[in-house]
This record gives sequence, structure tokens and C-alpha cells, in this order.
Amino acid sequence: MSKFYITTPIYYVNDRPHIGHAYTTILADVLSRYHRAGGEDVFFLTGLDEHGQKVQQAAEKRGVAPKQHCDEMAPRFLELWEKLHISNDDFIRTTEDRHAKVVQDILQMVHDNGDVYEDEYEGLYSVSEERFITEKESETGEFRDIKKLKEKNYFFKMSNYQQALIDHINDNPDFIQPKHRKNEVLGFLKQPLGDLCISRPKSRLNWGIDLPFDTDYVTYVWFDALINYVTATGFGTDDESYNKWWPCEYHLIGKDILTTHTVYWPTMLMSAKLPLPKSIFAHGWWLSGESKMSKSLGNVVNPLDLIEEYGVDPVRYYLMREMVLGQDASFTMESFIRRYNSDLANDLGNLVGRVSTLIDRHFDRVIPPKGVLTDAEAELSKKADSISDLVMDNISNMRLSEAVEETLQFVRAINRYMEQMAPWKLVKSDTGRAGTVLYTATDCLRQAVALLQPIMPARCEKILHMLGLSMASAKECLEAGTPLGNFEIPFPKIELPDKDLDKVKDEKENVMSDGKISIDDFAKVDLRTAVVTAAEKVEGADKLLKLQLEVGGETRQIVAGIAEHYAPEDLEGKTIVVVANLEPAVIRGVESNGMLLAASSDDSVVIVTVDDTKVGSGIRIS
Ligand code: MSP
Repeated sequence: MSKFYITTPIYYVNDRPHIGHAYTTILADVLSRYHRAGGEDVFFLTGLDEHGQKVQQAAEKRGVAPKQHCDEMAPRFLELWEKLHISNDDFIRTTEDRHAKVVQDILQMVHDNGDVYEDEYEGLYSVSEERFITEKESETGEFRDIKKLKEKNYFFKMSNYQQALIDHINDNPDFIQPKHRKNEVLGFLKQPLGDLCISRPKSRLNWGIDLPFDTDYVTYVWFDALINYVTATGFGTDDESYNKWWPCEYHLIGKDILTTHTVYWPTMLMSAKLPLPKSIFAHGWWLSGESKMSKSLGNVVNPLDLIEEYGVDPVRYYLMREMVLGQDASFTMESFIRRYNSDLANDLGNLVGRVSTLIDRHFDRVIPPKGVLTDAEAELSKKADSISDLVMDNISNMRLSEAVEETLQFVRAINRYMEQMAPWKLVKSDTGRAGTVLYTATDCLRQAVALLQPIMPARCEKILHMLGLSMASAKECLEAGTPLGNFEIPFPKIELPDKDLDKVKDEKENVMSDGKISIDDFAKVDLRTAVVTAAEKVEGADKLLKLQLEVGGETRQIVAGIAEHYAPEDLEGKTIVVVANLEPAVIRGVESNGMLLAASSDDSVVIVTVDDTKVGSGIRIS
């Protein structure tokens, strides 16, 4: 049996899961399911990237230990994967012991191979990117928190492998896909390749894996993270499993992490004398309408909102159908609803409804006999015979959207056949012939649904049940006499008159695309002045103060992360501004009913206060 090992990037544990994470993971899931259905032995890996400065800082901000922070953040991803019906075989977290051991083993191998050296380096360091940047990069304006830093560090001689990498890319045309990404990397490799700083001194960062040859340092987070793909195979602990799975068939990545995967990672493996992945596939970005999704624009699509409103499978379908792999795609509510209604509610859903109703009414709810076939059936059968191969060929060549479209074309052909044969009329004159038509249409539908199952596992299974089938029996031709299951509309139409569609568009896209909000949106925020009547430190948290406030004649308590900037006694008697209608939260075991406004820069925080104590408690915009 051939094997298929596929990975997603491991996601930053700090991030709030968004459509980008969901997309790559659904894509890996869909490919895994197609390969499993094709009889291959599949290993599908996803997981979390948990080390590095950002995690350390986020944990500090929350006043918890980094590991605890990771443990508290990780379930957000796990819960989403469950909701999205992700069938991963392993979930790796870089803070697991199994991973630290492999990272140290590989570092030692690279070191023993003479590819690690120490050097003192002085340069511009971007705190936000956690790396040294060039003078030129610093001028692009893309990097925040830049400072000059001088440091002794360990470097990996990536440059030793530049030519070997170029040769490998040229000798293995599928190593980097799609082709334009391969050309991009080859272009990048025309410049001399620098070496890679692979350590961080503990004086600056200690949330990482110790270098095995100098425990005053932790490993650079990318060197650590990339190794997860090998760790999960059982490298160093289970040779049989490692040899079975490594190298992987595909690393799926977004285009933004191309260099780390196609330059750092293969050269690391070359130095450790391990085989390279067979293929690295970079997909494009989901845009919100025409613009990039970003937190600051406030246009990041939350997959959970969509699932709640429209169900998991339609969202999976839309994402797979709409993105041509390798290119960017535009997410809009309007295109989602149109796609859902035309492909799922109309083409597929109506076909299921039609055949079920007719068999129910005229054939006692059992599949009619196949009967005598005519040219019309032969024509449809020709399509049916080739559809599986066509779809699987598209899948093996990473043409997902084409695979979906081919299947839908087939569904449309079945619908046309139904229209032409009109079994609802035939039942009155020639029941046998009507039975043949319904048998043929339902049997073709069975095939189409089986082919869509990797994309919409739950709904397709439901449809198969309606046709009296299960996933296992869906592989075989229908048997006359099989009773139908209970009917349920598989894809209820999203009823929106055109003007409402425009409204959806306005609300969800226009507002999202430039990050602006309306006055009505702003009015939802209840800003109030409040007098601090008492303040004290929160026990066990260096950064937190607990404040008692008087807000419009009412007393309430809030917790604020300002203890490093204000002593409790500085605050008493001050009139501050709070957001009064935030959901209550419990921070370090203390209830907080609101948040205060403050101006902040890197190292200072100044609370917004109101001078004139005569003011009432409301704040308005004028
Ligand atoms: N931790 C690293 C990966 C380490 S792998 C050894 C990382 N994590 S991430 O959480 O930022 O991951 C992101 C993945 O989501 C990337 O592949 C990125 O391309 C993808 N996306 C983020 N936003 C996206 C869209 N708007 N659209 C599609 N994918 C995007 O990078």
C-alpha cells in the first residue's frame, strides 16, 4: 500500500484562529480524505508553534508562565479542528518532550558535521519579527520595534548548501510548487545565501529549547519549529515509523513562509544528512474582498461565525471550490451565498430532493430496477465511468477547485438527463422506463456524492443515508429494492432577495474592507467617566492593579495591567475613562467589570483622565 504523509504549518499558539489557519488545515484534511479513499495509508499532521519571544511576552502580559499560557491557548485550535471535522492523525506541540529531544539531536548532528560556528554580531534587530534585519529592510517600514543589538550567537552555515539546494530544485521539478514559487526561490538563490543565526541568548529570551552544546542559549524558533515535521514521524525513537513516513509527500504552506520552508528547512536537512521532503506546496492568500485580511483593518474572517450560521460543510466546500491553488482568492459573503445557493442548494440539493420524492411517491420508497438501458443512459454512464479518474487525477495534481467543478459538472449532467427524460411524466405512461431513469440518476448521484465526501463528509454521509446507503456501500452500484432512508433537505436555500444580498455585501465587506466603522457601531461602546475610590495590587501578579470605581452612582471593580506604571495611591481620587459594557472577565482569579483607557508606547503607559470633576459619567462623541 502506498503512503501519503501531509503536513500543515504549525500555527502560532498566540494567534486567534482565523480563516487562513482554517483554510490550510481543511485543505490538508480534504487531500488526506481523498488519498485515504483512494486506498493509501495516510498520515496527516498539524500542530502548534509554541516557543519564541511573542509567546513569552504574551504570557508575561497575562501574568502566567509561558507553558501555562500555551496550555490555555492550544484548545482554541483543537476545538476549531473538531468543529471543522479535521481528521488529523497527530497534533504536535513544540513544547512536548518528544520534540525538544529531536531538535537537540538534529542540532547536535548539524554541529558535529561542522556546520555551526560562533560569531559576534552587531546589527539592527526587529523585536516584532524576532530577527536581525538588514539596513535596507529597516527602511521598508515593514518592521516594528527596531533596535541596535550586539550579541554573540551561533550560526548555521546555510551558505555551504546553496549550490546543493539549487541543484536539488532543478533536478526535482515538483520539489517547490506551484512553478511560479519555484522560480521565485531560484531567483532568491541567485544572490549569495547568508548564514542563519540559530540561537538566542537566554539573557534576552529563555522560552525555547536549549542548545545541546551551550545551555546559555535557546534555539531560534524557526529552527525549532520546522523540525516538528520529522519529530512526529518518530525520528530517534521509532525507526520503523520514521522510515515509513519520512520524507513527507507534501508540506502545505502559505506563500508568506516560503523561504523558511524551501531554503532553511532543506539546508538544515542536508546538513543533518536526512532526506528532503518530496514537495512543498505554497498556496495563496484569502483576501477580504480586494484587501489583505489584517487585525488592524478589522476584516479577518472568523471561521466559527460562518460555521455557526451556515454549517461546516458548506464552508469547507466554498473554500475548496473558490481558491485556485497557488493563487490568491477573494472571500466575500456575497460570493459565498451565491455559490452555496447555486451549487449546493440548487444543483446538488434539488437533485437529491427530486429523486427521493419520486422514488418515495411512485416506487414505495425502494430503489427501482435498472431495467433496459437506452442511448441516453449510455451517454450519462460514459461520464460516470470517467468521473472518478478525472477527479482523482486533479487531486493528485493539486487542482482542487477543478476536481470540485468536474464533480459539479457531472451533477449538472444528471440534472439535464432528468429534465430530458422527465420521469415525473413517464410514471403516468411507462413505469418501467421511469424506474430506469430514476435508477440511473440515483446511481450517478451516489457516485457524485461519494466523490464530494472528502470535502463535505457529514452532509454527504447524510445524503447517502437518504438514498439507503452508507459510505461503504456507496462504492458499489445501487441495488434495486434498497429502501430509502429518511429525507431531509440537505442544503436549505439561503433565501435572500437581491437587495438583502447587497446589504450583506455592504455590512460584511464594505465595512470590513477599509477598517472603518459607522457611528452606530461606535455608539455600542459605553464609555463612562469613573472615579477611583480605592486601588490595590493583585496578589501574585506584578502587573495588575485592582481598582474600585464609582461609575454614575454605581460601584464596580476592574482589573488593569498598569501596576508597573502607577502606584495604587497615585490613582485614588482620579477621574478616569472606562468601557462600561464589556463582558465581565476573571483575571488571575479577580473579577473585572470593564476596562480603562490608557495611552501606551513601548515602555510607558498613561491613563486617560478627566480634569474637571464636575463632569457627569457619560462620554459622547462630538
Ligand atoms: N508558526 C509559523 C509556521 C511554522 S511551520 C514550521 C506560522 N504560523 S501562522 O500561525 O502565522 O500560520 C500561518 C499559516 O496560515 C501560513 O501558512 C499562512 O500563509 C496562513 N495564512 C495566514 N493568513 C492567511 C490568509 N488570509 N489566507 C490564507 N492563508 C493565510 O507562520
